[in-house]
Amino acid sequence: MTKFPKSRTNWVSLKESMILARATDLTWNSERSFKPAYFAGNDVLEVAHEGYKMYIDENALYGKTSYPSLYRYETEIIEMLVDLLNGPKNSGGSLTSGGTESNIIAMNTAREWAKEHKPEISFPEIIVPRTAHPTFEKGAKILQMKVVRLDKSPNLQVDLVGMEQAINTNTVMVVGSAPPYPYGHTDPIREIGTIAAKHDLWLHVDGCLGGFILPFAREFDPSIPDFDFSVPSVNSISLDIHKYGYAAKGVSALMFQNKSHADYNRTSFDDWPGGLYSTPNLAGSRSGGAIASAWAVINYLGHEGYRDIVRALIDLRREFVVGIDAINGLSMVGNPQTFQFAFSSDAYDIFAVADGLSDLGWHIGRALEPKSVQLMITMSHKPIVGEFLSDLASISNRVENGTITSRNIGPVYANG
Ligand SMILES: Cc1ncc(COP(=O)(O)O)c(C=O)c1O
Repeated sequence: MTKFPKSRTNWVSLKESMILARATDLTWNSERSFKPAYFAGNDVLEVAHEGYKMYIDENALYGKTSYPSLYRYETEIIEMLVDLLNGPKNSGGSLTSGGTESNIIAMNTAREWAKEHKPEISFPEIIVPRTAHPTFEKGAKILQMKVVRLDKSPNLQVDLVGMEQAINTNTVMVVGSAPPYPYGHTDPIREIGTIAAKHDLWLHVDGCLGGFILPFAREFDPSIPDFDFSVPSVNSISLDIHKYGYAAKGVSALMFQNKSHADYNRTSFDDWPGGLYSTPNLAGSRSGGAIASAWAVINYLGHEGYRDIVRALIDLRREFVVGIDAINGLSMVGNPQTFQFAFSSDAYDIFAVADGLSDLGWHIGRALEPKSVQLMITMSHKPIVGEFLSDLASISNRVENGTITSRNIGPVYANG
């Protein structure tokens, strides 16, 4: 067991030991890794880092009172996101530490809203698609709510019939994902909205992954459905600036069609010796760096910059999709609208293909329903698409002829 250090150690030797310790770690934006890591180019990264470093020591908890610049960035980010998501005049939101906090806070909002609008409910329930992110189960544990997770995904999307059938007198909220993590295919938010409106339910859209892709991608891809506040019954949307928004880690947003709903999540308390404590969400101290990084990157790229990156990633995705479809026995899982996608095989064991790819140093994801190999692409992958496809073709061929067999490694999304 590691004991608490008795004495000081100088930074030079500590740094050396840390460099040594990380020698075998994955390079976060390695071109051989298809696990989530959001890289848009060294110029964007520099802006994200520089913005972060400028505010690395400032605590956004004291933004309003001590760091008006930080408070301004936060306010402006929310205003810019209202614009991005077609929010009506009265919409707004707040920043959180990540997608998990955003989704949990959305659940809390729906629960508190239901206390006023449906006071007869004793144990609030939410209905989520089969593919929704596990953050909803995490939220239910903390908030004492029940998650009804639908048991199938017809056409890789939410089961609309099952969703309506699952509604009961305790239901407060329904969820759609734009898109869900397992498939890059957005749920039909307008259709979920019709169900929500008919039964007077809170509709939350989990746009953590797609929030900074879909608004730009829809300019090129008419298959992308309306997913934002242009659907009148959407009450809240989560979107992560630290994913395809390219900010440093630790910043997401939860947006409301009606900004007064954010008040359900504010804690204000002054009956103790310390004076008024008032925070918008779960966190107390918050990284000023992450907020400054988000403000800097959003302004650095603007609509033009995000659109160009999305366009380039759509072209890159096409190269992957065409190449994968051309390999005997492999087929894409659906038609991805964003940049994580999967491929499977009816002809041979796709997890044996995954093992073969791992042995060549490719870090890929494994998923189920169907059993598949999952890739998430960013600008890191531009130089290697040819090499990857050539390795994939030869590995698939060797799996097909029995030279490579599966080691029976199951899918792990995250095990932190
Ligand atoms: C659709 C979706 N929702 C929520 C989350 C959780 O986000 P975070 O890891 O930032 O908490 C993720 C993470 O990938 C996601 O893909």
